[in-house]
Amino acid sequence: MTPTSRALSFDSAAEQYAANRPSYPPGVLDAVEEIMGRPLEGARVADIGAGTGIGTALLRERGAVVTAVEPGDGMARQFRRTLPDVPVVRGDGNALPLADASHDLITYAQSWHWTDTARSVPEALRVLRPGGALAVWWNTDAGDVPWAVAQTERIARHCKVPATTRTRPDDSRAARLAGVDGLDFARRQLRWSRVVPLDMHLANISSHSAFLVLGEAGTREFLDAERARLCELFPDGDVEETYVVDLLVARSPGGR
Ligand SMILES: C[S@@+](CC[C@H](N)C(=O)[O-])C[C@H]1O[C@@H](n2cnc3c(N)ncnc32)[C@H](O)[C@@H]1O
Repeated sequence: MTPTSRALSFDSAAEQYAANRPSYPPGVLDAVEEIMGRPLEGARVADIGAGTGIGTALLRERGAVVTAVEPGDGMARQFRRTLPDVPVVRGDGNALPLADASHDLITYAQSWHWTDTARSVPEALRVLRPGGALAVWWNTDAGDVPWAVAQTERIARHCKVPATTRTRPDDSRAARLAGVDGLDFARRQLRWSRVVPLDMHLANISSHSAFLVLGEAGTREFLDAERARLCELFPDGDVEETYVVDLLVARSPGGR
Protein backbone atom coordinates (compact mmCIF):
# COMPACT_ATOMS: atom_id res chain seq x y z
CA MET A 1 0.00 0.00 0.00
CA THR A 2 1.64 3.27 -1.13
CA PRO A 3 0.91 6.59 0.55
CA THR A 4 -0.67 7.76 -2.70
CA SER A 5 -3.18 4.93 -2.91
CA ARG A 6 -4.19 5.54 0.71
CA ALA A 7 -4.39 9.30 0.09
CA LEU A 8 -6.73 8.68 -2.83
CA SER A 9 -8.73 5.88 -1.17
CA PHE A 10 -11.57 8.33 -0.43
CA ASP A 11 -12.56 8.25 -4.11
CA SER A 12 -14.23 4.87 -3.65
CA ALA A 13 -16.46 6.20 -0.86
CA ALA A 14 -17.15 9.82 -1.79
CA GLU A 15 -20.92 9.60 -1.34
CA GLN A 16 -20.57 7.85 2.03
CA TYR A 17 -18.00 10.49 3.03
CA ALA A 18 -20.25 13.42 2.09
CA ALA A 19 -23.23 12.01 3.95
CA ASN A 20 -21.57 10.96 7.20
CA ARG A 21 -18.38 12.88 7.97
CA PRO A 22 -18.63 15.67 10.53
CA SER A 23 -18.34 19.31 9.51
CA TYR A 24 -16.48 21.89 11.62
CA PRO A 25 -17.82 24.30 14.27
CA PRO A 26 -18.18 28.04 13.48
CA GLY A 27 -15.36 28.83 15.93
CA VAL A 28 -12.82 27.45 13.44
CA LEU A 29 -13.48 30.11 10.83
CA ASP A 30 -13.97 32.76 13.56
CA ALA A 31 -10.41 31.96 14.69
CA VAL A 32 -9.09 32.00 11.12
CA GLU A 33 -10.60 35.48 10.60
CA GLU A 34 -9.16 36.71 13.88
CA ILE A 35 -5.65 35.40 13.16
CA MET A 36 -5.54 36.59 9.55
CA GLY A 37 -6.90 39.96 10.64
CA ARG A 38 -9.67 40.28 8.08
CA PRO A 39 -13.13 38.88 7.43
CA LEU A 40 -13.63 36.02 5.01
CA GLU A 41 -16.24 38.07 3.14
CA GLY A 42 -14.68 38.84 -0.23
CA ALA A 43 -11.40 37.03 0.55
CA ARG A 44 -9.86 34.94 -2.24
CA VAL A 45 -9.53 31.47 -0.75
CA ALA A 46 -8.11 28.24 -2.16
CA ASP A 47 -9.42 25.16 -0.33
CA ILE A 48 -6.93 22.35 -1.01
CA GLY A 49 -7.87 18.68 -0.73
CA ALA A 50 -11.43 19.99 -0.74
CA GLY A 51 -12.88 16.50 -1.02
CA THR A 52 -16.67 16.58 -1.17
CA GLY A 53 -16.72 20.24 -0.11
CA ILE A 54 -17.44 20.05 3.64
CA GLY A 55 -14.94 22.82 4.49
CA THR A 56 -15.53 24.69 1.22
CA ALA A 57 -19.24 25.09 1.98
CA LEU A 58 -18.44 26.81 5.30
CA LEU A 59 -15.99 29.18 3.63
CA ARG A 60 -18.56 30.09 1.01
CA GLU A 61 -21.25 30.71 3.63
CA ARG A 62 -18.93 33.41 5.03
CA GLY A 63 -18.78 35.15 1.66
CA ALA A 64 -15.31 33.97 0.60
CA VAL A 65 -14.59 33.63 -3.10
CA VAL A 66 -13.43 30.02 -3.09
CA THR A 67 -11.55 27.88 -5.59
CA ALA A 68 -11.32 24.22 -4.62
CA VAL A 69 -8.36 21.98 -5.49
CA GLU A 70 -8.85 18.22 -5.32
CA PRO A 71 -6.70 15.37 -6.73
CA GLY A 72 -9.25 12.54 -6.50
CA ASP A 73 -11.73 11.71 -9.31
CA GLY A 74 -14.50 10.41 -7.05
CA MET A 75 -14.18 13.21 -4.52
CA ALA A 76 -14.15 15.89 -7.27
CA ARG A 77 -17.28 14.33 -8.85
CA GLN A 78 -19.08 14.39 -5.49
CA PHE A 79 -17.88 17.98 -4.92
CA ARG A 80 -19.47 19.08 -8.19
CA ARG A 81 -22.77 17.45 -7.18
CA THR A 82 -22.73 19.21 -3.78
CA LEU A 83 -21.39 22.64 -4.79
CA PRO A 84 -22.03 22.95 -8.55
CA ASP A 85 -21.27 26.66 -8.66
CA VAL A 86 -17.86 26.51 -6.95
CA PRO A 87 -14.90 25.92 -9.30
CA VAL A 88 -12.93 22.78 -8.52
CA VAL A 89 -9.51 22.46 -10.14
CA ARG A 90 -7.79 19.08 -10.34
CA GLY A 91 -4.42 19.05 -8.62
CA ASP A 92 -2.75 18.58 -5.28
CA GLY A 93 -1.00 20.56 -2.57
CA ASN A 94 2.49 19.58 -3.70
CA ALA A 95 2.08 21.38 -7.05
CA LEU A 96 -0.79 23.84 -6.81
CA PRO A 97 -2.45 24.68 -10.13
CA LEU A 98 -2.80 28.31 -9.04
CA ALA A 99 -1.00 31.57 -9.94
CA ASP A 100 1.66 33.26 -7.80
CA ALA A 101 0.41 35.72 -5.13
CA SER A 102 -3.19 35.10 -6.16
CA HIS A 103 -4.90 34.22 -2.84
CA ASP A 104 -5.53 35.73 0.60
CA LEU A 105 -6.00 32.39 2.32
CA ILE A 106 -5.18 28.75 1.65
CA THR A 107 -7.07 26.16 3.66
CA TYR A 108 -6.54 22.45 4.22
CA ALA A 109 -9.42 20.85 6.15
CA GLN A 110 -8.34 17.36 7.16
CA SER A 111 -5.97 17.11 4.17
CA TRP A 112 -2.61 18.72 5.01
CA HIS A 113 -1.17 15.41 6.28
CA TRP A 114 -1.46 13.93 2.78
CA THR A 115 1.01 16.45 1.38
CA ASP A 116 4.79 16.40 1.33
CA THR A 117 5.48 19.52 3.40
CA ALA A 118 8.87 20.05 1.76
CA ARG A 119 6.83 20.85 -1.36
CA SER A 120 3.42 21.98 -0.07
CA VAL A 121 4.76 24.74 2.23
CA PRO A 122 6.75 26.51 -0.54
CA GLU A 123 3.78 26.03 -2.87
CA ALA A 124 1.42 27.66 -0.37
CA LEU A 125 3.83 30.59 0.09
CA ARG A 126 4.10 31.00 -3.68
CA VAL A 127 0.32 31.17 -4.14
CA LEU A 128 -0.40 33.42 -1.14
CA ARG A 129 -0.15 37.16 -1.50
CA PRO A 130 2.33 38.73 0.96
CA GLY A 131 0.70 38.69 4.39
CA GLY A 132 -1.79 36.00 3.37
CA ALA A 133 -2.51 33.01 5.60
CA LEU A 134 -2.27 29.23 5.48
CA ALA A 135 -4.85 27.52 7.72
CA VAL A 136 -4.83 23.76 8.31
CA TRP A 137 -7.14 21.89 10.63
CA TRP A 138 -8.39 18.47 11.66
CA ASN A 139 -11.28 17.08 13.68
CA THR A 140 -9.41 14.87 16.16
CA ASP A 141 -11.11 12.63 18.68
CA ALA A 142 -11.20 14.03 22.22
CA GLY A 143 -8.75 12.04 24.31
CA ASP A 144 -10.89 12.03 27.47
CA VAL A 145 -13.96 10.12 26.28
CA PRO A 146 -13.26 6.55 27.41
CA TRP A 147 -15.52 4.70 24.95
CA ALA A 148 -14.07 6.67 22.02
CA VAL A 149 -10.48 6.11 23.15
CA ALA A 150 -11.19 2.37 23.43
CA GLN A 151 -12.76 2.40 19.96
CA THR A 152 -9.72 4.16 18.48
CA GLU A 153 -7.50 1.48 19.98
CA ARG A 154 -9.73 -1.29 18.52
CA ILE A 155 -9.59 0.37 15.09
CA ALA A 156 -5.80 0.68 15.32
CA ARG A 157 -5.46 -3.02 16.17
CA HIS A 158 -7.91 -4.15 13.50
CA CYS A 159 -6.55 -1.95 10.70
CA LYS A 160 -2.91 -2.11 11.84
CA VAL A 161 -2.52 1.69 11.93
CA PRO A 162 -1.11 3.89 14.72
CA ALA A 163 -3.75 4.71 17.36
CA THR A 164 -2.74 8.38 17.27
CA THR A 165 -4.11 9.09 13.81
CA ARG A 166 -7.62 9.98 15.01
CA THR A 167 -6.89 10.91 18.60
CA ARG A 168 -5.86 14.04 20.47
CA PRO A 169 -4.19 16.92 18.63
CA ASP A 170 -0.80 15.84 17.44
CA ASP A 171 2.12 18.16 18.21
CA SER A 172 4.10 16.94 15.22
CA ARG A 173 1.68 18.83 12.97
CA ALA A 174 2.50 22.07 14.74
CA ALA A 175 6.19 21.25 14.60
CA ARG A 176 6.01 20.64 10.87
CA LEU A 177 4.73 24.17 10.29
CA ALA A 178 6.88 25.76 12.99
CA GLY A 179 10.01 24.30 11.44
CA VAL A 180 9.62 26.26 8.24
CA ASP A 181 11.85 29.34 8.03
CA GLY A 182 9.95 32.60 8.16
CA LEU A 183 6.63 30.97 8.99
CA ASP A 184 4.99 32.08 12.18
CA PHE A 185 1.89 30.23 13.24
CA ALA A 186 -0.89 30.40 15.79
CA ARG A 187 -2.70 27.37 17.17
CA ARG A 188 -6.24 26.97 18.49
CA GLN A 189 -8.03 23.90 19.79
CA LEU A 190 -11.81 23.84 19.76
CA ARG A 191 -13.90 21.17 21.40
CA TRP A 192 -17.31 20.34 20.02
CA SER A 193 -19.66 17.40 19.66
CA ARG A 194 -22.54 16.08 17.61
CA VAL A 195 -25.17 13.45 18.32
CA VAL A 196 -25.83 11.11 15.40
CA PRO A 197 -27.68 7.82 14.81
CA LEU A 198 -25.52 4.74 15.34
CA ASP A 199 -25.61 3.89 11.61
CA MET A 200 -24.24 7.31 10.76
CA HIS A 201 -21.49 6.97 13.34
CA LEU A 202 -20.46 3.61 11.85
CA ALA A 203 -20.59 5.00 8.31
CA ASN A 204 -18.45 7.92 9.48
CA ILE A 205 -15.70 5.79 11.01
CA SER A 206 -15.66 3.38 8.07
CA SER A 207 -15.12 6.29 5.64
CA HIS A 208 -11.60 6.73 7.10
CA SER A 209 -8.73 5.67 4.89
CA ALA A 210 -7.65 2.89 7.28
CA PHE A 211 -10.91 1.04 6.46
CA LEU A 212 -11.10 2.07 2.81
CA VAL A 213 -7.79 0.34 2.12
CA LEU A 214 -8.74 -2.67 4.28
CA GLY A 215 -11.57 -3.74 1.99
CA GLU A 216 -15.19 -4.76 2.52
CA ALA A 217 -14.85 -8.06 4.36
CA GLY A 218 -12.44 -6.74 7.00
CA THR A 219 -14.52 -3.61 7.46
CA ARG A 220 -17.80 -5.54 7.77
CA GLU A 221 -16.30 -7.81 10.43
CA PHE A 222 -15.23 -4.78 12.50
CA LEU A 223 -18.51 -2.91 12.06
CA ASP A 224 -20.65 -5.90 13.10
CA ALA A 225 -18.72 -6.28 16.37
CA GLU A 226 -18.68 -2.52 16.93
CA ARG A 227 -22.44 -2.22 16.37
CA ALA A 228 -23.08 -4.84 19.06
CA ARG A 229 -20.80 -3.03 21.54
CA LEU A 230 -22.24 0.40 20.88
CA CYS A 231 -25.86 -0.83 21.09
CA GLU A 232 -25.14 -1.69 24.71
CA LEU A 233 -23.47 1.66 25.40
CA PHE A 234 -26.08 3.74 23.56
CA PRO A 235 -29.37 1.82 23.92
CA ASP A 236 -31.44 4.70 22.49
CA GLY A 237 -29.46 4.42 19.23
CA ASP A 238 -27.84 7.89 19.33
CA VAL A 239 -24.08 8.29 19.63
CA GLU A 240 -22.35 11.44 20.86
CA GLU A 241 -19.11 12.00 18.94
CA THR A 242 -16.76 14.47 20.67
CA TYR A 243 -14.06 16.21 18.69
CA VAL A 244 -11.24 18.67 19.29
CA VAL A 245 -10.47 20.69 16.17
CA ASP A 246 -6.73 21.25 15.96
CA LEU A 247 -6.25 24.48 13.96
CA LEU A 248 -2.91 25.92 12.84
CA VAL A 249 -2.68 29.23 11.00
CA ALA A 250 0.56 30.62 9.56
CA ARG A 251 0.94 34.09 8.01
CA SER A 252 3.09 34.38 4.93
CA PRO A 253 5.93 36.91 5.34
CA GLY A 254 5.36 40.49 4.14
CA GLY A 255 2.22 42.58 3.69
CA ARG A 256 0.04 43.45 6.63
C1 LIG B 1 -10.04 13.45 4.67
S1 LIG B 1 -10.38 14.16 3.11
C2 LIG B 1 -10.79 15.87 3.52
C3 LIG B 1 -11.80 16.46 2.57
C4 LIG B 1 -12.36 17.83 2.95
N1 LIG B 1 -11.34 18.86 2.98
C5 LIG B 1 -13.12 17.80 4.25
O1 LIG B 1 -12.93 18.69 5.08
O2 LIG B 1 -13.94 16.89 4.41
C6 LIG B 1 -8.75 14.29 2.44
C7 LIG B 1 -8.74 14.82 1.01
O3 LIG B 1 -7.37 15.11 0.66
C8 LIG B 1 -7.21 14.73 -0.69
N2 LIG B 1 -5.76 14.57 -0.94
C9 LIG B 1 -5.03 13.43 -1.01
N3 LIG B 1 -3.74 13.72 -1.29
C10 LIG B 1 -3.65 15.07 -1.36
C11 LIG B 1 -2.58 15.98 -1.64
N4 LIG B 1 -1.32 15.56 -1.85
N5 LIG B 1 -2.87 17.31 -1.68
C12 LIG B 1 -4.12 17.75 -1.46
N6 LIG B 1 -5.17 16.93 -1.18
C13 LIG B 1 -4.93 15.61 -1.14
C14 LIG B 1 -8.04 13.47 -0.83
O4 LIG B 1 -8.34 13.19 -2.18
C15 LIG B 1 -9.27 13.84 -0.01
O5 LIG B 1 -10.26 14.45 -0.78
